[in-house]
Amino acid sequence: MAVQTTASTTDSASGAPAPFGPAAALSCRECGTRYPLSPVFACLECFGPLEVAYDLPTGDPEALRARIEAGPTNIWRYAPLLPVPADVATKPNINPGWTKLVKADNLARELGITGGLHVKDDSGNPTHSFKDRVVAIALEAARTFGLTTLSCSSTGNLAGAVGAAASRAGLRSCVFIPHDLEAGKVVMAAVYGGELVGIEGSYDDVNRFCSELIGDPIGEGWGFVNVNLRPYYGEGSKTLAYEIAEQLGWRLPDNLVIPIASGSQLTKIDKGLKELIALGLVEDKPYKIYGAQAEGCSPVSAAFKAGHDVVRPVKPDTIAKSLAIGNPADGPYVLDIARRTGGAVEDVNDEQIVDAIKLLARTEGIFAETAGGVTVGVLKKLIESGQLDPAAETVVLNTGDGLKTLDAVAPTTGPTATIRPTLAAFREAGLA
Ligand SMILES: Cc1ncc(COP(=O)(O)O)c(C=O)c1O
Ligand SMILES: [Zn+2]
Repeated sequence: MAVQTTASTTDSASGAPAPFGPAAALSCRECGTRYPLSPVFACLECFGPLEVAYDLPTGDPEALRARIEAGPTNIWRYAPLLPVPADVATKPNINPGWTKLVKADNLARELGITGGLHVKDDSGNPTHSFKDRVVAIALEAARTFGLTTLSCSSTGNLAGAVGAAASRAGLRSCVFIPHDLEAGKVVMAAVYGGELVGIEGSYDDVNRFCSELIGDPIGEGWGFVNVNLRPYYGEGSKTLAYEIAEQLGWRLPDNLVIPIASGSQLTKIDKGLKELIALGLVEDKPYKIYGAQAEGCSPVSAAFKAGHDVVRPVKPDTIAKSLAIGNPADGPYVLDIARRTGGAVEDVNDEQIVDAIKLLARTEGIFAETAGGVTVGVLKKLIESGQLDPAAETVVLNTGDGLKTLDAVAPTTGPTATIRPTLAAFREAGLA
């Protein structure tokens, strides 16, 4: 990673905080062409995706670490490493992050892991998924660009995160979802008072529709967090890498198991880990990144197993609706990262997802949404198949809350017994 040394976090003319902090430009992931920081997402030379390039703070890592540790207990403690102004924490925001890193000894025992296991539990965010992190950064970009409507194409969690962040910031929101999502996701997306539109089609249809909307005069002044603001949005996932390292005592784990929908989160966690090493905030050591998909929507896993570099789109059919993106934009980059780090991409079926949700709940008291069932189920499968070393230290992500996907477990979960309120009835039920 190129870390340059010309960081300026104030606007030289006014002395006000630079709107994008240490961010220097947008840069094409394919050809490296640089663009000014603006609401664009694709390279004009090669159509490659753009990402944020930085002039990150250089110098004494101890001083930077101390500055971070003195910051707020949310993602803004990492403002020096994000495309946000230094005074970001003073603006209306739902302030996600600093979620629990749970030492999961019971689950480790069940899975035969001896090297240590933690669950990074992002269900603790304000709208109960990791999406609050990415939306917070995109919201800052929208404010800076003077965009007045916050929008997204969503598999459910993102819609709620956008609705909440926009309401708090006093912006209009209008979000788009496939019409057949879980009730918990639909209600969460609607309750914050913005507009919610169900589209008759899959997530990939919703995304295509949003791309059309951006190109139309209707979309003027709109910030689609995961389309025209995608370069900024993606950076929010780096905070998962930063938090995991800091919560482990400023060091990296050996393995990370991360869910994949578009693949953005996984690629940006890798970016965050590389930055931590380049900045000297953690010791340089190898780590392996494992991607997790549902069998009913596993185009990246299929490409990984087949040894392909390209990801062939699929039509999703899985209970893990939050991960149901059949044509993942960052799929090829996920393949690169899994292969480069010595990890893998694996998938589990719906039954294994439900079993894994229950396993995590039963062992650690964490109720995950289906995406968490996918990561825990994949972790189990990786150990059983010898792809992940149980003697190494692993962090598995739970990125959402089980209360949003009750339907997944409701058919096989319920009262042990329903009885009259008497001791005799309790005894009769065999529970005494
Ligand atoms: C709970 C949850 N986890 C993980 C993901 C994967 O996100 P990405 O598109 O960055 O791969 C999503 C995406 O919607 C999600 O809702
Ligand atoms: Zn390019």
